[in-house]
Amino acid sequence: MTDMMEQFDHLREQARMGGGARRIEAQHKRGKLTARERLEVLLDEGTFEEMDTFVEHRCTDFGMEKTKHPGDGVVIGHGRIFGRPVMVFSQDFTVFGGSLSETHAQKICKVMDLGVKNGIPVIGVNDSGGARIQEGVASLAGYAEVFQRNVLASGVVPQISAIMGPCAGGAVYSPALTDFIFMVRDNAFMFVTGPEVVKQVTHEEVSFEELGGASTHSTRSGVSDFAFETDIELLKQLRRLYSFLPLNNRDAVPVYPTRDPIDREDTSLNHVVPDDPNKPYDMQEIIEKVVDNGDFMEVQEGYAKNILVGFARMEGATVGVVANQPMVLAGCLDIDSSIKAARFVRFCDCFGIPVVTFVDVPGFLPGSDQEHRGIIKHGAKLLFAYAEATVPKITIITRKAYGGAYDVMSSKHLRGDLNYAWPNAEIAVMGSKGAAEIIFRKEIKGAEDPEAALKEKTDLYAETFANPFIAARRGYLDDVIRPHRTRVRIAQGLQLLKNKKLDNPWKKHANMPL
Ligand code: HXC
Repeated sequence: MTDMMEQFDHLREQARMGGGARRIEAQHKRGKLTARERLEVLLDEGTFEEMDTFVEHRCTDFGMEKTKHPGDGVVIGHGRIFGRPVMVFSQDFTVFGGSLSETHAQKICKVMDLGVKNGIPVIGVNDSGGARIQEGVASLAGYAEVFQRNVLASGVVPQISAIMGPCAGGAVYSPALTDFIFMVRDNAFMFVTGPEVVKQVTHEEVSFEELGGASTHSTRSGVSDFAFETDIELLKQLRRLYSFLPLNNRDAVPVYPTRDPIDREDTSLNHVVPDDPNKPYDMQEIIEKVVDNGDFMEVQEGYAKNILVGFARMEGATVGVVANQPMVLAGCLDIDSSIKAARFVRFCDCFGIPVVTFVDVPGFLPGSDQEHRGIIKHGAKLLFAYAEATVPKITIITRKAYGGAYDVMSSKHLRGDLNYAWPNAEIAVMGSKGAAEIIFRKEIKGAEDPEAALKEKTDLYAETFANPFIAARRGYLDDVIRPHRTRVRIAQGLQLLKNKKLDNPWKKHANMPL
């Protein structure tokens, strides 16, 4: 018995040390935590229960049988975040560069299977040199097993990826299939082909960071949803995101008691929107004044900034927020913002999170660049997402809602449950000047003073349409509300819609415009 205990202790210690003190030191020197240290920060203290600690690879090629590390380069198990369960895996770069072997993949699949069966989200920490080169196709098979599970788990339990080191080649596709990607600056990179291959094939010289670092993916490609400076900051923010998410697609959204009263009225909201309809203002200010304690966790903060998406709480319960941002491109919808918001709305719909939409949109972004890159198809994604969503949908038009973009942004016609507008809202086919130029073209051209005529016709169009009452008269708006009452009206709406039941017609799956 004593011998067994000694062997057990020895193996545990060996597993804890991963690839050894030298490699752990190298990891620390780069400013990176080890796989286990990361789980310590991510999970509530003392809650981590490790599984498969003693699993070893079975490779015998290239003398691999002589080099074995218990755990085989990935630490897996379960723990808690703010008291709620979570399945985790964390790749250990100190063991064969965190590379994925057949057994390493089996361990990841084990936590994913447990997550899906038990309705518990899966968080993966990626820090890996990719396929274990010594294992060849067995490793590729392992990746495919993980991909298949990512797809089947999608919409069943939230899946979150933290990229905290290399993630290259086909390995990028597992995080890409998950719901949210976090990246740490400087130490993480993701690309399908690395800088050396890029140089060989295209003669382009590009650094790791520029090609696939956190800045690139959180501002240019949109691959990453969050970017943070250090491992610790990233893991703490991941905990914060987790606090907003339900555990699975049948679970209710988490509710955290709040002291922020639902009938809190903020009169400063009456002055956020400028009198001049062409002047921008910061929509984020409105969101923060409305939601519980001003706590808004923005997703994809640095990408497609003309739309804001993120999580907040009302009466302590999670809501998803989508909002046009008049500070960027006047809040127009373009390809990137449509895709960004569509994916977010679909995530909320998968997991029963009500969507609150703030609208100030002058239309879709005009131009041959957008048209040639397919704004028709990509804009349709957002329309599709809103139209398909069956979760409670509350919409507030703070200023402009023009053209097709009015329809798209959670309008009554796409089954918006409660649609409100502020008194200064303008709901029209297009801006007044553009409209006047088209419908009064002949009169303006023939006028003695065309400029004065244009102004007169613009004013006429604005007087007729630049208000919310025409839509309200038709019931397309449920009410015109005072800005300072926005919080209470949304909160009351969410209470009303708490037990909303709405099913789409049976189908295998829809064919959304991808
Ligand atoms: C086996 C690997 C490995 C791998 C790294 N190591 N990658 N072992 N398989 N894929 C080992 C190294 O031999 C080294 O072992 C240790 O991990 C650390 O690696 P270093 O190179 O010293 O670290 P660093 O300088 O930080 O460079 C990290 C790296 C580099 C950029 C990831 O190691 C690298 O380029 N690795 C190969 C990446 C690659 O081509 N992978 C296959 C991609 S294709 P020692 O014993 O010296 O500590 C792929 C297909 C997936 O993944 C397809 C899915 C469909």
